[in-house]
Amino acid sequence: MDENINELISDLRTYLEYLKGMGITTLPVTENILEKVARSETATLAEVRKELGDCKRCKLHRTRKTIVFGEGNEKATLMFIGEGPGYDEDVQGRPFVGKAGQLLTKIIESINLSREEVYIANIIKCRPPQNRNPEPDEIESCSPFLMKQIRVIQPKIICALGTFSAQTLLKTDTKITALRGKLCDLEGIKVIPTYHPAFLLRNPERKRDVWEDMKKISDLLKSPQ
Ligand code: URA
Repeated sequence: MDENINELISDLRTYLEYLKGMGITTLPVTENILEKVARSETATLAEVRKELGDCKRCKLHRTRKTIVFGEGNEKATLMFIGEGPGYDEDVQGRPFVGKAGQLLTKIIESINLSREEVYIANIIKCRPPQNRNPEPDEIESCSPFLMKQIRVIQPKIICALGTFSAQTLLKTDTKITALRGKLCDLEGIKVIPTYHPAFLLRNPERKRDVWEDMKKISDLLKSPQ
C-alpha cells in the first residue's frame, strides 16, 4: 500500500512538472481527490460492490445463490469479520442472519451498539458447499475486496470472529484460544479476535470470555486514540 502511494506520488509529481513546463500552473479540482487517494483506491463501499460485480473469480460462484457483500455503517468504528456465509446468509444475501447471527446481534447489543451502527462482513463472500472451510485460492480471490472494504470504512477496531477469520486477517496459525482478547494490528487498525458465535452455541461456557473481549472493545472505542 505505502509503496503504491509512493509510486503514485512520484508519477503525479512528474506529470505536474510536465504541465508546469507547458505553462499550466493551476488545476480544476471537482471532487475531493486527495482524500479519495489517501483513503484508498476506491472511496465508497458502493464502488467496491460495483467492482466486485457478479463475481466469478473463484469456483464458489458455481454453487452460491447470493454474494454476501457485507452490511452496516460505512463510517462504523467497529467492524466484525466472520468466516463466510452459511445456508441462511446465502439465501438472504446478508451476513450473520442465521442462529449464529442472532447471537452476534446480542453480542453487539451487549455493548450498547446495534447492527446498523457497526459493519459486518466475512473473509469470503460466497458460501462454500456443505459449509466446508474456504480454500486458499478462494481466500486469495476474495480478500482484496474485504481489504478494500476495510480501507473505505477505516474502523477503529476490527473484531475477528473465530479461528479462521483471526488467522487469515493476522496471517498466523496461532490458535484462537491464544489469540482471543489480544490486541493485534492490521494496517494500523486494532484487531481483537474472539470466539465465533457458532462456537459459542456449542460451548456456551465460553460466553464469559467473549463478554470480556467485548468489554475491552467497548473501552477502546471510548478511549481517545
Ligand atoms: N458464520 C460466518 O462466519 N459468517 C456468516 O455470515 C454466518 C455464519
